[in-house]
Amino acid sequence: SGPATVSPTGSPTGADQARMAQSGSHLTNAQGTRLYDTDHSLKAGPRGPVLLQDHHLREKIMHFDHERIPERVVHARGAGAHGVFQSYGTASAVTKAGFLAPDVETPVFVRFSTVVGSRGSADTVRDTRGFATKFYTSEGVFDLVGNNIPVFFIQDAIKFPDVVHAAKPHPDREIPQAQSAHDTFWDFVSMHTEATHHTIFFMGDRGIPRSYRMMEGFGVHTFRLVDAEGRTTLVKFHWKPKLGVHSLVWDEAQLINGNDPDFHRRDLADAIEAGAYPQWELGIQTFPDTPDQTFEGIDLLDPTNIVPEELAPVQPIGLMTLNRNPSNFFAETEQVAFHVGHLVPGIDVTDDPLLAGRLFSYLDTQITRLGGPNFPQLPINRPHAPVNDMLRDGMHQTAVHRGVAPYQPNSLDGGCPFTAGADMGAYIETPVTVPEGRKVREAPESFSDHYSQPRRFWLSMSPVEREHIIGAYTFELGRCYEEAIRVRTLQVLANIDPELCSRVADGLGLPAPEPTVPLADVEPSPALSQVGGTWPVD
Ligand code: HEM
Repeated sequence: SGPATVSPTGSPTGADQARMAQSGSHLTNAQGTRLYDTDHSLKAGPRGPVLLQDHHLREKIMHFDHERIPERVVHARGAGAHGVFQSYGTASAVTKAGFLAPDVETPVFVRFSTVVGSRGSADTVRDTRGFATKFYTSEGVFDLVGNNIPVFFIQDAIKFPDVVHAAKPHPDREIPQAQSAHDTFWDFVSMHTEATHHTIFFMGDRGIPRSYRMMEGFGVHTFRLVDAEGRTTLVKFHWKPKLGVHSLVWDEAQLINGNDPDFHRRDLADAIEAGAYPQWELGIQTFPDTPDQTFEGIDLLDPTNIVPEELAPVQPIGLMTLNRNPSNFFAETEQVAFHVGHLVPGIDVTDDPLLAGRLFSYLDTQITRLGGPNFPQLPINRPHAPVNDMLRDGMHQTAVHRGVAPYQPNSLDGGCPFTAGADMGAYIETPVTVPEGRKVREAPESFSDHYSQPRRFWLSMSPVEREHIIGAYTFELGRCYEEAIRVRTLQVLANIDPELCSRVADGLGLPAPEPTVPLADVEPSPALSQVGGTWPVD
């Protein structure tokens, strides 16, 4: 069913609109006029010239010419599925979010994606994977727009155009399409060392998942949960697949790309069609909302950091089951618009500077991608809660709004619905104290350690995972044209671990440099290893 803004005059909504486009037993033109032939242009005799007056030809070709919309600037290739999220109620202790109360079921739509390649690229490339979930809650839409890797390449959104320009195909030849084995990517990450942690993650096995059904998902940033009394808790979101976390090995990934470039989307769709519904448990790591927003010395506002699960266990709060394939890829998987700013009461953002940029970016890009500001009215994006906004008109408006007063306060359309001071289940930003300071363009000192956590990751890997990582760096760097980039990256690896560096250096036929920073004294986190694994799998 559609929201209240759509068609108060009684014109068709939602499923009715679909029926409208494909109802009746006769083929018609877009205006509903019956056609008697759609196979031949109108000509002056069977061999004569085509006539300009053929309005059916003109309409058919015009529409076809405009079938494509721009692909996403990142995460262009994806696969989606519908499902349901069943809350355990365990999060009620820390959030008032209604969909996390005991036994609440919420419909969801998930889109998995690769990041770098274009819409037609292959599935099993080495890349980060997107894991974006839209919860259609009774309090409005909540989007958890995450990845399968718990950290990100950059700490500040102002670097996003840089990292994406570096990772996308070279502007001259437009290769490589989707793999990281190219000069611009390694040029950037070898100089922008805050990318080191994300890079070692996707040089590891998580960069080539076996199936979307076997990936973890992470909200990456620290979020703030708020309970009914206004008490706050900092959290990180985790999705844990019931099937466990599994990856391909590199040779398999390469072969599959040739044999079946649609391997991941086929696997997801086939599993759901066969009734083998994939499931993930949603969990949270919780941290006290202290003024410095750190935990065990880890800056929670730095999205290049994880908090090891051994220090803050992931507590399960609900179960997601994907049980229905999209019936129309374009209308669902392509037109879905996720946004980190789609929040519901009880879930708030933090001052992570990467998150701040994302709060701007998603809406902005969707204006271009989905042709104007009315994309929330597209069926896949419609909230399942009533909508009563004062947004009006615009490109591709489908609502026919009533009344004369789309402004507040007003006395003409029933007056102002707000009651001063009352909560009314509204979304209220947490009144956290904003730190005072000089206006500056600089990162905090606590963002400056780029090697301790990558070293922890390396030390947490099993022997076979380490071999995969060495092989991945050697392969990728071996494909770079510029030797200076290889040499610079070896320096980064030396600062993570001498063995990692010397093994890759051997493979490349280059000398291994000495570390330029003291090697961090960190404990491994067994939960990071796919071989160890800490999450119960049944
Ligand atoms: C798309 C995740 C950082 C801009 C996506 C998608 C995911 C995602 C999963 C695909 C959504 C879909 O399936 O439709 C992340 C994560 C990030 C991150 C986890 C860091 C923690 C950023 C940043 C920016 C950004 C810093 C910009 C400042 C975009 C844009 C899209 C996108 C423009 C395309 C959206 C669309 O066309 O609908 N991101 N992203 N992302 N992301 Fe991010």
